[in-house]
Amino acid sequence: MTDFLSDRLNMVYRSIDKDRSRKGRVIDVGSDHGLLALTCLTDGITDFCICTDIHKMPAQRTEKCLEDHCLTGKFEVFCTDGLKGIDLKPDDTVVMAGLGGNTIMSVMTEVMERTDHEVLEQVDFVLQPQKTSDELRVFLGKNGFDIISEDAVVDRDLFYHMMVARFTGYSYDLTPLEKYYGPCLIKSDNEIIKKFHSHLDEIYKIRSRGNPELRKLMEDRHVL
Ligand SMILES: C[S@@+](CC[C@H](N)C(=O)[O-])C[C@H]1O[C@@H](n2cnc3c(N)ncnc32)[C@H](O)[C@@H]1O
Repeated sequence: MTDFLSDRLNMVYRSIDKDRSRKGRVIDVGSDHGLLALTCLTDGITDFCICTDIHKMPAQRTEKCLEDHCLTGKFEVFCTDGLKGIDLKPDDTVVMAGLGGNTIMSVMTEVMERTDHEVLEQVDFVLQPQKTSDELRVFLGKNGFDIISEDAVVDRDLFYHMMVARFTGYSYDLTPLEKYYGPCLIKSDNEIIKKFHSHLDEIYKIRSRGNPELRKLMEDRHVL
């Protein structure tokens, strides 16, 4: 039933570990239209979805979408900031798609502070930041989350990328190349990812004017 989804959301959906989600819940933070939860439930990749949205209208939109598809009893919708009011359980998959990197970091900080490490280690975070992904990757490293996979796609002429993070408790530093281009993406020889990186070169070329770390990286990549 992935026809409901844009190419961007399809990439996010593909990245959900189906073995994990079949055992646990899919929690969609910033659910808006509710299409991701709709696909997860109608495809049977989970028995239960939790959807949250900070705004009332999108939360109602999600609820209506899932009710219209006769999924009552298989979901709960909360109008809340991030994961506030929701306790994570082993085998949960938390999806945050279409949100800014700063919002994702603040949602993760709030939930990390009140969740046992033993539980966190058994939760996948499927993250598709719209911006600030370099800072998000650094945040994940500092807070002991491995980036276990990444992907990128072109959707209506725009590049989108995403990552799956899993808590280990071991913090690490990223190299500038990993921080700006993605630790898994830099190992890929996929044509779309190569194009995505060329696109990033052009953006970073401009940003490097006020950023010595990026400037050195651009010089090393022979972009400058
Ligand atoms: C651009 S839409 C993305 C919708 C969907 N996740 C997708 O990828 O297509 C962002 C949604 O996240 C919601 N949102 C923004 N900040 C949020 C937060 N801190 N907690 C929950 N929802 C949030 C917005 O109200 C909006 O409905």
